[in-house]
Parts: sequence; C-alpha cells; structure tokens
Amino acid sequence: MGLLEEEVAVFRRRTPRSARVFDIARRYTPFGVHSNYRHVDPYPLYVSRARGTSIWDADGHRYLDFSMAFGAVVVGHANPVVVRAVREQAARGSIFGFEGADTYRLARVLCERFRLDRVKLSVTGMDATQFAVRFARAFTGRSRVLKFEGCYHGSHDSLLVSIKPSREREGDPRRPTAVPASKGLVPELAGRALVAPFNDLEATEAIARGAAGDLAAIILEPIPMNMGVVLPAPGFLEGLRRLADELGAILIFDEVKTGAKFYDGAEGLFHVHPDLKVFGKGLAGGYPLAAVGGRADVMEAVVPGVISHAGTYNSNPLGVAAGLATLTKVLTRQKMRAAGRLGDALAKGYADVVEDRKVPALVQGLGMSGTIHFTRQPVVDWRSFQSVDVAKWWGYYTAMMNRGVIPMATGPDEQWTVSTAHTRRDVDRHVEVFDEVAKEIARFEGAMEMVEAI
Ligand SMILES: Cc1ncc(COP(=O)(O)O)c(C=O)c1O
Repeated sequence: MGLLEEEVAVFRRRTPRSARVFDIARRYTPFGVHSNYRHVDPYPLYVSRARGTSIWDADGHRYLDFSMAFGAVVVGHANPVVVRAVREQAARGSIFGFEGADTYRLARVLCERFRLDRVKLSVTGMDATQFAVRFARAFTGRSRVLKFEGCYHGSHDSLLVSIKPSREREGDPRRPTAVPASKGLVPELAGRALVAPFNDLEATEAIARGAAGDLAAIILEPIPMNMGVVLPAPGFLEGLRRLADELGAILIFDEVKTGAKFYDGAEGLFHVHPDLKVFGKGLAGGYPLAAVGGRADVMEAVVPGVISHAGTYNSNPLGVAAGLATLTKVLTRQKMRAAGRLGDALAKGYADVVEDRKVPALVQGLGMSGTIHFTRQPVVDWRSFQSVDVAKWWGYYTAMMNRGVIPMATGPDEQWTVSTAHTRRDVDRHVEVFDEVAKEIARFEGAMEMVEAI
C-alpha cells in the first residue's frame, strides 16, 4: 500500500457523513457536485460552514484552510467587514433590474486601482473572459485567439482548449496542437484558438505571425495559476506586448486569480500594460462579481444593439457592495503586503522541510500564493508541469487533510492562498503538519528504494 491508499482509508473512516451526503446528492446531481473540479476520489468533502481561516466539514471536523475557495476569499471566510456591507445591501434590495445608483463607485475604484479606462461588471470569471474575447473580436474584426497551453480561462467554447492536454494529443512542444478540453464544443469556435507554449516568446511569435491577419487577441494568465504557480520569464510579457502591437491584436491579461492577490494586479508587478484585463474570484471577498476593463476605444465600442454585453445579475448590488468593501476596506496595500509576507514565510517553511526531509519536490510561489510541485524540474510551462508526480501530490494532500489542514486548492495544478485573515500561527501550524507529512512521504520513498534495490 502506498501513502495515498493509506490516507484514503483514513479519510473514509474520518468522513462517513460526507460519504452519506455523496450518496444522496448524486441521486440528483451527477457526481454530487456542481463544479467538476470539486469531484475527487473516493468522494468530495462536503462542508457545512466556514469562518476566518477555518472550515468545518459535514462530520464536524475543523480544518485550517489554505484553499480559500480556490482563492476566492482572500479576505478570509465570512469577513465581518464584507458581511456587514452585504447585510446592509440585502436589506435595501438584492437586485433592481436597473443600474444601482452606487455602482459607479466600484467602477471608479477598479479603474483607478487597475489602470483601466473603462470597466464592465458581470458575475463569473468565465463570463468576463468570454466578454473580453468578444470585445477583442468585435473591435479588430478578426476571429482567432492565441492562448497558452495549460492556462485556464473558464468553461466556454472559445477558450476551453489545451487546458491539460495529454502527452498523446498535445503534439510538438513549440507548436502545440489545439486540444479541445471537453466534448460538445462547437468545433468552428474552439478551432479558432491558437495554442502556444508559455514562456517561449520565439515559438509564440512564430505561431502568432502565422495567423497575423486574423489574430484578434492574445490572452494569458500573467502568472499562470492553473499549473501551480508559474512566473513569466523576464521579458516574456514585454515581448507579448510588442507582438500584439505589431500584429494589431488585443492583449488580454486574465487576472481572475492574480487580481486580488497583488494590490494592483500583475501590471503593478511587471509594469506591462495590456489592452484588456479580466477580474473575478477574490474581487468581492467571496461574492459573485467579475469585471472586464481596459482601453477606452475598445470598451466604448461595446455599443448596445451592436456588441452584446448582458446579464441579469451583472453588477448585482450584493456583489457590488461586497466588492467595494473588499477593495477599499480589506484588500488595502498594507494588509496585502502583510499577507504576501506570510505567504513568503509559508513558501520558505515548505522549502526548508523539502530540503531537510529530502522530499523530491520543489516550491514555487510569490507572495500570497505558492505551491509544491512533486518534481525536481522547475515548472515553467505545461510540458514541464507534466513531470509532476500527481499520485504523490494526492497522497500529500489527503494526508494533510486527515491532519486538519487544507494545504491548498484541490489539485496538483493549484496553489495555496494566504488570506488577509491568516496569522503567523496558522502558517507555523501548516508547516508543522507538512513536516509530519513529509516524514510519511520519506517513509514511502525509502520503501520504494528498498524494493528497487531488491
Ligand atoms: C485564470 C482563470 N480565469 C478564469 C476562470 C473562470 O472563473 P469562474 O470559475 O469564476 O468562471 C478561472 C477559474 O478558476 C481562472 O483560474
């Protein structure tokens, strides 16, 4: 038996209620979850409540949470400031069917903080990236969109391509095959995607130039966080800026994950100004809100009756109130800097344990987010991510959960989020538990080596 099997057996013993909920839920809902990313073997963990940095499962176990809803609650669960804003707004109405008289305040904050000329609010990261692509296509009169292998932009046809392509289908590393990530995509739409290797500017230029006359947009996560945490190589973002200018394409930063993890997003870190930016997840402290914004000429072209941008819950007052409270009262520069420092301390704690216990892994991250990759090869793109030992990651994750720590969001391609609610004690506890788990990993590594030696 390996670590994973051993820990899954413990998980089953610890979480009988989750197992029971799963049995009932799946009678009504395939796989018992409403987002496929929540489905795990042998069954999902079902949660009953959350507060601050704690989360309680259906069996009443308390966990120290570093997933923070895949980075959507960077302010901590049920943050009192955000809860108060939402409660006050709920008493004044949750949705009007008209634009709220206060919505412009949030739009102004977003424009000033993230250097946007104009902004449009919606609800999910998926709809906002979809709008961004539509705006780019409409503005340029072109159809093709270049995305990067391993980057995720939401579950819609134009961009649901080469998210996690298999070795058999992915093709040449410098000229990847565009691999649809779901059945049921409209081939004509998914087929307009061009796929390039992240961090390889030369290959990206060749691919983009090949479609030059029809390239509407280049879209990317400026710090890819759907293959762990990958940093852009020096010059890569600048190169994409030049390339987009040369080809007359719209450069889109998908900041759905990064937007609320760095005070003024990726631009504040790398000083590269894209044409459009997309925000979601942490923007409203755990309430549904997303945004697309950027260049005035592109955004002003979104004329009613000409380019569609619509949604019943767009700029819903609860999300707007939560967003305003989140950005102005919680995610201040000072609080985010403190959370970033804690994140760096967590990454350092991991790196020390990895070295001391000789865990075959490396730690990658920056500020509030980081991850452990069970590989010795730095992860710089999708192909290097494929060297990660996925089974080992699941063993580590399940072992951490069984010891009361949710170490990061679910999946070896994810990362931890150190929120503004986390404390030094939380980080120390996380590292302490990781040290215990690292001993277990080492125990199984040792066993493997002995078997090989025999
Ligand atoms: C970078 C990025 N863009 C877009 C999305 C889609 O956001 P949503 O799940 O809110 O539709 C995600 C979701 O994980 C994401 O990580």
